[in-house]
Amino acid sequence: MSRRDRNRSPLPRDPQLVTVDGFTHGGEGVARLQGKAVFVPGTLPGEVVRVQVEDDRARWARARLLEVVEASPDRVTPPCPYVPDCGGCDLQHATPAAQRRLKTRVVREQLRRLGGIDDPPVLECRAVGPDLGYRAQARLHAAPDGRLGFHRAGSNEVVPIDRCLVLGEGAQQVREEIGDRTGASEVRLRRFTPEGRGAAVLTPGPGPLELPGGDIEVLLAQPDGSTVAMRGDGEVEVEVDGLRFRVPALSFFQPGVPAAESLLREVVAAAGPIEGALVWDLYAGVGLLSLGLARAGAEVLAVEGDAAAVAAARRNAELNGLPLDARDEAVGSLLRRAVRTSTGVGGTGDGSGAGADADAGAGARPLDPPDVVVLDPPRTGAGEQVIADLVALQPAAIVYVACDVAALARDTRHLAVGGYRLRRAAPLDLFPMTHHVEVVATFSP
Ligand SMILES: C[S@@+](CC[C@H](N)C(=O)[O-])C[C@H]1O[C@@H](n2cnc3c(N)ncnc32)[C@H](O)[C@@H]1O
Repeated sequence: MSRRDRNRSPLPRDPQLVTVDGFTHGGEGVARLQGKAVFVPGTLPGEVVRVQVEDDRARWARARLLEVVEASPDRVTPPCPYVPDCGGCDLQHATPAAQRRLKTRVVREQLRRLGGIDDPPVLECRAVGPDLGYRAQARLHAAPDGRLGFHRAGSNEVVPIDRCLVLGEGAQQVREEIGDRTGASEVRLRRFTPEGRGAAVLTPGPGPLELPGGDIEVLLAQPDGSTVAMRGDGEVEVEVDGLRFRVPALSFFQPGVPAAESLLREVVAAAGPIEGALVWDLYAGVGLLSLGLARAGAEVLAVEGDAAAVAAARRNAELNGLPLDARDEAVGSLLRRAVRTSTGVGGTGDGSGAGADADAGAGARPLDPPDVVVLDPPRTGAGEQVIADLVALQPAAIVYVACDVAALARDTRHLAVGGYRLRRAAPLDLFPMTHHVEVVATFSP
């Protein structure tokens, strides 16, 4: 253990009374004990609680909630009987309105602390649909006796669950059709509406597999991450704001129809007047945002690294009669190439003067710089190099869709280095009952 990590002031291990005054972006209340920050899952700001310290580090500790002594007016009895055993939802103990207030507060705090903005222009977090029954997809794991459920918080132990309250009716039906006897170690399921087609991807367990009954697509997950269709073609259909999408069973899609619809509208509005403009949709998935932008009159270049999603994006464009240039390429590599094309030098990095085609790969086409960029990176964010290359292309606006607010805040700092300022951040409650929040952040020079 380094000197820095040594815990010089261990906290008492017997029950302690503390007042919660903070809230983390991971959804935990924060109290102070002997000056040290103590994270307490299941608590809300303003509450007085009895806790037991379980993990005591040099600079912080985590404690288990034993008793709520003075409850917040925002506290409610969780609607789901599996709380707190199931690790799926960590905010069911707060009213939905309070959940959204906390999310607004977290977005502001992260943009202030990690993003370096004194007074970030953050709107109130908005509901986008029902607070329960909204999820169209789930990833279930098998307990040793084969019953399916979700992981206990912070553990790989499976809590068997028959009925999940945040699952939509269609997805819940798939859960019931699958039952608990497939022998799979993991099941990923999806159905967007009760009328729509459902799909289940089974990961084989140690024993024999039994295909589930019901009228659903069934696929087997392979060790290399691909799938083999056992019944049907493995795709499900969904309609979002009048646009139709076919989604491969393992390609990314937003949690449900209302979520996808609100996000699509928010992003198209944030992009501003885009008729005739060249818009890049980076990390495009099966083309949800790309097609919304194309319908608004933009010429859209979609970039996505999942080959199945790119193929689906092209088919989805055809299905909706919209033009789309969809590229199967890592965003980082496409941006490097674009910077080299536009500057004639080695981007922000090597200054080697390498031409656009020097490492573009076979069949790569030249890239015109975008007027507007939409990016929706995975949880880790875009990162310094992607942002540096993006700002080097000087789009008039950047619309950043974030599912992790800390990653957004870090990228906000990188954008500021490149001269782009945050103009507006709109948090959307795409994941009620959990601490997760989606943010549509708009930047311009
Ligand atoms: C959060 S999803 C966004 C999808 C899409 N915007 C939507 O709303 O449906 C992120 C997507 O980025 C893709 N992805 C992750 N890393 C990538 C990379 N380095 N280059 C290209 N695509 C990537 C994933 O496959 C996934 O489809």
